[in-house]
Amino acid sequence: MLKKTMLAFFCVATLQLTAQHTDTEKMRRFVNGLMQRMTTEEKIGQLNLLIPGGAAVTGSVVSTDVETKIKNGNVGGLFGIIGAERIRRAQEIAVSQSRLKIPMIFGMDVIHGHKTTFPIPLGLSCSWDTALIERTAQIAAREATADGINWAFSPMVDIARDPRWGRIAEGSGEDAFLGSQVAKAMVRGYQGRSNDLKDISRLMACVKHFALYGAAEGGRDYNTADMSRVRMYNEYLPPYKAAVEAGVGSVMSSFNVIDGIPATGNQWLLTDLLRKQWGFGGFVVSDYTSLNEMIPHGMGDLQTVSALALKAGLDMDMVGEGMLTTLKKSLQEGKVTQKQIDDACRRILEAKYKLGLFDDPYRGISASRASEILTPANRAAAREAAARSFVLLKNDGQLLPLKKSGRIAVIGPLADSRRNMLGTWSVSGDWQQSVTVIEGIRNAVGSGATVSYAKGANIADDPFFVRRSNMLGMEIDTTEKRTPADMLKEAVDMAKESDVVIAVVGEAADMSGESSSRASIDIPESQRNLLQALARTGKKIVLVLFNGRPLTLNWENQHLPAILDVWFGGTEAGNAIADVVFGDHNPSGKLTASFPYSVGQVPVYYNHLNTGRPFAPGDWSKFKSDYLDIPNEPLYPFGYGLSYTTFAYSAITGNKTGISGNGKLELTVRVTNNGNYDGEETVQLYTRQMEGSIARPVKELKAFRKIFLKKGESRDVVFSLSANDLKFYNKDLAWVFEPGKYKAFIGTSSAQTAEFDFNAGK
Ligand code: NOJ
Repeated sequence: MLKKTMLAFFCVATLQLTAQHTDTEKMRRFVNGLMQRMTTEEKIGQLNLLIPGGAAVTGSVVSTDVETKIKNGNVGGLFGIIGAERIRRAQEIAVSQSRLKIPMIFGMDVIHGHKTTFPIPLGLSCSWDTALIERTAQIAAREATADGINWAFSPMVDIARDPRWGRIAEGSGEDAFLGSQVAKAMVRGYQGRSNDLKDISRLMACVKHFALYGAAEGGRDYNTADMSRVRMYNEYLPPYKAAVEAGVGSVMSSFNVIDGIPATGNQWLLTDLLRKQWGFGGFVVSDYTSLNEMIPHGMGDLQTVSALALKAGLDMDMVGEGMLTTLKKSLQEGKVTQKQIDDACRRILEAKYKLGLFDDPYRGISASRASEILTPANRAAAREAAARSFVLLKNDGQLLPLKKSGRIAVIGPLADSRRNMLGTWSVSGDWQQSVTVIEGIRNAVGSGATVSYAKGANIADDPFFVRRSNMLGMEIDTTEKRTPADMLKEAVDMAKESDVVIAVVGEAADMSGESSSRASIDIPESQRNLLQALARTGKKIVLVLFNGRPLTLNWENQHLPAILDVWFGGTEAGNAIADVVFGDHNPSGKLTASFPYSVGQVPVYYNHLNTGRPFAPGDWSKFKSDYLDIPNEPLYPFGYGLSYTTFAYSAITGNKTGISGNGKLELTVRVTNNGNYDGEETVQLYTRQMEGSIARPVKELKAFRKIFLKKGESRDVVFSLSANDLKFYNKDLAWVFEPGKYKAFIGTSSAQTAEFDFNAGK
């Protein structure tokens, strides 16, 4: 029987492989045939990606004469176009008026949802729920393809440990292991588990920004990233690699330099590492004018940098048209080869073939599909995702959840700000469709409680800062006629008349995101003043915090009893916030980026190396690695987040004392919900290699499991560790396991764990 099943399995597997092989052969034949008919100009045209005027512009330059260029076969794809009809019209020009009628590919920054907007990626990652994250990407793909889009500039998987950098909002935080799980989940969600891009409800993903973009010095966007290869391989590259292994169709190069060479023209990065070592078979697109930006980087003129990029392995040039305008000349002058142009062109055409664009250039567009966008089911998923992304940072005296009764004062400039619900990078989301906090609260309490609202303060008062933050729209309201003092008085009077205050404050949506670095990561002064005035009333205050990055919350942590971090929750943010505030949903989010104690501590991250003079908390003495004025530990560490219930962890037990050979060590903890509510807990497993050929981090996340426990319930959580899980890149960049002494840690956060010592041998 077993033999028969195995035989059947092998037959199916062989058939699948043969089918795949035949498909690839067919694609090769088709693309070769097409390329034989293409002129060099037309081939170079395929490498050109433009953004037409009137689109969702996400950079400082807009393409011109787009229609003429399409007709002349000078455009491989367009991006940023909102609306299926506009995409259809653009495609019609390509497939009816260009000589070879090659369809264009249509890209878009589908980052955390399309029309139905989910929480910002940093928030979503705090769910530690990869199935949920996959589902959000799947819904985004369905909505975007119904809108004519076939290529998403996502997932963004840049590891970021500097909250001054505004784009920390777009990724999954500081950890490579968690980041890799999220990267895979998102690729699966966009492209489907079988990577069948012919499925019109899926689209091609684009992992970005390759590479190290999140390590920008000083947290200043587009700035230099410089690090050792050991760090790169162990701590920054894994999420990109995970996306490649999951079959991502395309990769976007980053703006920064790596080893002094801009990523867009970096042959080591785009060819040696990406294609040769990792076996990536898709195409590489530049970031927005990042090819041209190699000129100010000091790499030469436009012709030089375009040739450099092509030779490095870049296939498509976003917006800058350096390839379009110079490659022919470089070919004539022998600075690039025909093969290099052909290879790049072939990769673009193959992507279009895989997407089925040659069969149906209007892939996914049909009137009936409009009904797939912003459906009640998608909104329900957004509400759930938002609630799961929230992190309860503090809850003294179990102030939360609140009762749906009494007098509730909802105060703060983000309480009634529809514009700020979606967060950064929601280019096709419609903020008018979003639910505000005050609406969510009113929906939840009905007539059970008296809800009053006061704005209390502007998001920020400094005109210089406001102008810069509002570049993409009036997210910080500048129409307010009242003085700050008037607003504050109204809020304080209202607070005094209430039983509890919900203070809804924080950052405006585009105070994080691209080109939104901040040197101070405090809550803006206007709102800090409001919080201080509210605290002086002596009323109980729940801080509902909007933020696209970790903020410095020392004062808030010291003076306010409850803090709920809601990031930017998306279309259903207001309802989801009410779900959590009133206990219809018990929060379970855990931080994926440390919240520094003060900005002077940055970068602060849990998986750092030890120093030769390690500091032990509570044991300050001279000549240790520490600060005179602040602790070493962040205010809230990686993996931290409370629930309305509490969980007790037993000591760790192992089924053996160590790992030998191919064996596995099973580590068990018993987790008990010993609080007053049913709830979910993310149980985290970390390890530490005690001695090695290079210094190793004090903790590294190796696995996590999200479990649901009813009030009073206990469960054994078993993790299984093998030598494979302990591998790392050594000084020669070889992926090795080193026998020796290890520690395992299991717990509720990176800072609160039980320990288990073990040996791992050959
Ligand atoms: C620049 C951003 O860095 C990138 O993430 C985005 O996909 C492109 N612009 C296109 O909008």
